[in-house]
Amino acid sequence: TGPELAEAGRLLAAARRPVVFTGAGMSAESGVPTFRDAQTGLWQRYDPQELATPAAFRADPALVWGWYEARRRGVRRAEPNPGHRAVAAIAARLPDTVVITQNVDDLHERGGVPAPVRLHGSLFAPRCSACARPAPLPSDLPPSAGPPEPHDGAEPHDGAESHAPEAHDGPLDPPACADCGAPVRPGVVWFGEALPSAALDAAVEAASSCDLLLTVGTSALVHPAAEIPLVAARLGAPVVQVNPVPTPLDAICAVNLRGPAGEVLPALVRAAWPDDAVG
Ligand code: APR
Repeated sequence: TGPELAEAGRLLAAARRPVVFTGAGMSAESGVPTFRDAQTGLWQRYDPQELATPAAFRADPALVWGWYEARRRGVRRAEPNPGHRAVAAIAARLPDTVVITQNVDDLHERGGVPAPVRLHGSLFAPRCSACARPAPLPSDLPPSAGPPEPHDGAEPHDGAESHAPEAHDGPLDPPACADCGAPVRPGVVWFGEALPSAALDAAVEAASSCDLLLTVGTSALVHPAAEIPLVAARLGAPVVQVNPVPTPLDAICAVNLRGPAGEVLPALVRAAWPDDAVG
């Protein structure tokens, strides 16, 4: 992607207030499964109606809580990939960068972006399903999981092992709220639920005043999050997409970088700022 990468690098180097808008593809090379990729996508293997709606939680809190805890344990075993670190490099270079994520993993934080705008919540912010009081994270990693493999700091090898929930991660009764005794729920946004209004307002505000929107690893199918790149495009900001395959956003992109985030984003940062040593 020679000419496209050069053009995207020029747009990034010229930006002062970029938005980086990320989806599950951002964490794919960390071994955290996406939702809609063939074979590995979570919604190819599980039914979102049974796991990702308020009714599902009411019907079977242990099934839902156990599944999200399995996803959280998988994320804890995963590491940020070079794509996460490249996003942090952009934010370090351009302090007015706003990172907006649909992801519920903590890999942006662990990869050097302390406070992304979280449109869909977090696996690490459980709360009471009745009074919404934040709940402590359960003690981590059951004995079977053992300590995470010591990483020698090298980049994750190709095809990082998967950190997807496995069959043995079965149902688990959710803890009871310390205040009101109701079941604690995952701190993520389920289908049919409103997005946290503060996060959505912050995201629309950032997209309305950015001078570049970089959309990475999202199929752009789930609304209202998928509107965010359109807000930027409508106001004249160029949109650059990083995705191995076409998405509905192709039509509004100034540049399409067809490839994996873990490779493309570091290359994009090098193209924008050739003399910077990217960590
Ligand atoms: N680098 C970049 N993009 C990738 C990579 C990669 N290594 N691997 C896959 N992708 C792309 C896929 O081509 C796809 O377009 O990432 C996208 C992932 O799309 P989804 O699985 O639909 O994930 P996302 O867009 O984040 O889903 C949005 O749906 O279920 C809800 O709440 C959930 O936040 C999620 C929302």
